[in-house]
Amino acid sequence: MKGEQDGIKALEVKAGKEISTATDLKKLDEVFRLYLGKKGRLTLFLRSLGAMSEAERKDQGKAANALRDALQIAFDSRKSELRIAAIEELEKKENIDITAPGSKLPKGHLHPLTHVQRRVQEIFQSMGFAIAQGPEIETERYNFDTLNIPANHPARDLWDTFWLKPRAADYLLRTHTSPVQTRYMEKNNPPLRIIAPGRIFRYEATDASHEINFYQLEGLMIGKEVSMANFKAIIEEFYGQFFGKNVTIRLRPSYFPFTEPSFEIDMRFGKSGWLEMMGAGMVHPNVLKSVGYIPGNWQGFAFGMGLDRLTMMKYNIDDVRLLYSGDLQFLKQF
Ligand code: FA5
Repeated sequence: MKGEQDGIKALEVKAGKEISTATDLKKLDEVFRLYLGKKGRLTLFLRSLGAMSEAERKDQGKAANALRDALQIAFDSRKSELRIAAIEELEKKENIDITAPGSKLPKGHLHPLTHVQRRVQEIFQSMGFAIAQGPEIETERYNFDTLNIPANHPARDLWDTFWLKPRAADYLLRTHTSPVQTRYMEKNNPPLRIIAPGRIFRYEATDASHEINFYQLEGLMIGKEVSMANFKAIIEEFYGQFFGKNVTIRLRPSYFPFTEPSFEIDMRFGKSGWLEMMGAGMVHPNVLKSVGYIPGNWQGFAFGMGLDRLTMMKYNIDDVRLLYSGDLQFLKQF
């Protein structure tokens, strides 16, 4: 009898210690099963009471039942301690400080060429120019014929062309934005002033100032008395607004089949160089005729500027190919 009581005492000490040192709910559950589970030590002992003598049962039963109640209380209180600790731990881990500044997501931005194109459009629109557009895949007729460059004319060699198959259809990748001039004039009556930005293609060798795929912006102004003097005034106003400072330009006599007289406009670049910025001139009477205008009644100027070159001047970029390199280190600067 004494021995059993010692056993209960030992059970009490052992279980009490294991309960208080269980470090998490899972371990506590194991301890519970070990003593109070279906096959737990105390449960088995309680079950064995039936085989005892009445006196023994009374004595042992009382002690065992008291221990069961005490252990149950100890379990419950340890359980709620561990629960609170677990919740606190979780709160620490998942704590969201809604006042903390957010982490920045990497954000893309516009390509420098797009910035330039939009700014150029804005300036010309403020001077009353509308925006016109034409296809990148052109026909021989618009890219050449209507612009006073008939088949077999040597001037076709001025623009090395990507011809598209089937050749019989006479399709090509436009070599300049000038076809938008005649496309627009065919559909609209003068007077008019338009710009036409767009992508163009040339089958030529690349270098620091030449790409095979680049951007131009065509300009066209037709009226009763539109002259080269108007062109000069508009271009000076444009450059003044675009660069926000004085730039040095020069007009150089040149040749284009669709203008007469023709000029090229260069801009001072670096210390000693000039960069060719655009071609321009008075629209050739044959071009006016090709769209059904009467040359004696109407006249005007046209120009075609390289948007890449303008971007290079604006941001001091010394190689046009960088604009198409997809190099993020380069692009992130803008
Ligand atoms: C023309 O393309 C004419 N259509 C321009 C024109 C329009 C003249 C209307 C008269 C009236 P040109 O081939 O020179 O001309 O090109 C015009 C501009 O495009 C050049 O001044 C230059 O700024 C740019 N450019 C020419 N070739 C390249 C190239 N390979 N890479 C980048 N920019 C170029």
